[in-house]
Amino acid sequence: MKKIGVLTSGGDAPGMNAAIRAVVRSGIYRGVEVYGIYHGYKGLITGNIKKLDVADVGDIVQRGGTILYTARCEEFKTEEGRAIAIQQLKKFGIEGLVVIGGDGSFMGGVKLTQLGFPTIGIPGTIDNDIPETDFTLGFDTALNTIIDAIDKIRDTATSHERQFIVEVMGRGCGDLALWSGLADGAETIMLPEKKEDLDTIVERLNRGIERGKKHSIIVVAEGVGSAYDVAKEIKSKANMDTRVTVLGHVQRGGSPTAFDRVLASRMGSKAVELLLNGDKGKMIAIQNNKIVAHDILDLLTKKHGFDENLYTLAKELSI
Ligand code: F6P
Repeated sequence: MKKIGVLTSGGDAPGMNAAIRAVVRSGIYRGVEVYGIYHGYKGLITGNIKKLDVADVGDIVQRGGTILYTARCEEFKTEEGRAIAIQQLKKFGIEGLVVIGGDGSFMGGVKLTQLGFPTIGIPGTIDNDIPETDFTLGFDTALNTIIDAIDKIRDTATSHERQFIVEVMGRGCGDLALWSGLADGAETIMLPEKKEDLDTIVERLNRGIERGKKHSIIVVAEGVGSAYDVAKEIKSKANMDTRVTVLGHVQRGGSPTAFDRVLASRMGSKAVELLLNGDKGKMIAIQNNKIVAHDILDLLTKKHGFDENLYTLAKELSI
């Protein structure tokens, strides 16, 4: 293999740039040319492809977002779209591809692999919702952004003796809510994986108030529903002064933490190593601090594991 490509797809995540840098530099270090494909799979179809040199990925290890841009591409989901993409890859002489993104993005990679074009995935999403990896790129940074925000909310919550409902990202996976709730000492964490009825939640809030608690923080994963609806229900069940904060896309931005930069560097380098060894259709993962690889088709049949121990611990500490 003499030329490989790299693209980012789906929602951006802090650490994607560090991963692009690692793919480019590991590739060049091993003697191959590396091409950046812009705007995700859309760039594959339109041929928005450019050779990247060592200097092109300088000064990006610390930057959030993705210098390659990202997009969701309906055309690539069609056979015709994929055929054009393969033609473009051939035109540039690219023989292997690294896709940085979430599980939706990996499906595209699988399709390319099935068409005889080797693809390796790197899990990049703040949600941490990919099976068979302990962490995805961007999760740690997003978590720290959330914690910073909730620490600030706590100051005003204490001053006004209010109950705050904070909505964080995470559609099918409540990891951002679970980890930030535990790290921030939230009184209640509402997760898509663990439905708890609001009467029980209100009872717990009341117990806290009776004990002299002046405020509470309730962290809600967006997959549970709107924080505004939760606030309305709490108000209807108990006369509490509540406020809502929806953190939104602020969670997706910002300079990656050291953890995400190191993870991105390790995963990027491993992806290149695998491609050059003739591997395909695999996703790089971190398990027990070891960088490993899993068959994408196999892992797409699984669900990201829910950490029951962490949930129990959060409950134990928020009595
Ligand atoms: O998958 C990452 C994610 O940030 C989710 O947590 C969120 O639901 C979604 O993307 C938002 O997507 P968009 O930026 O397209 O609104």
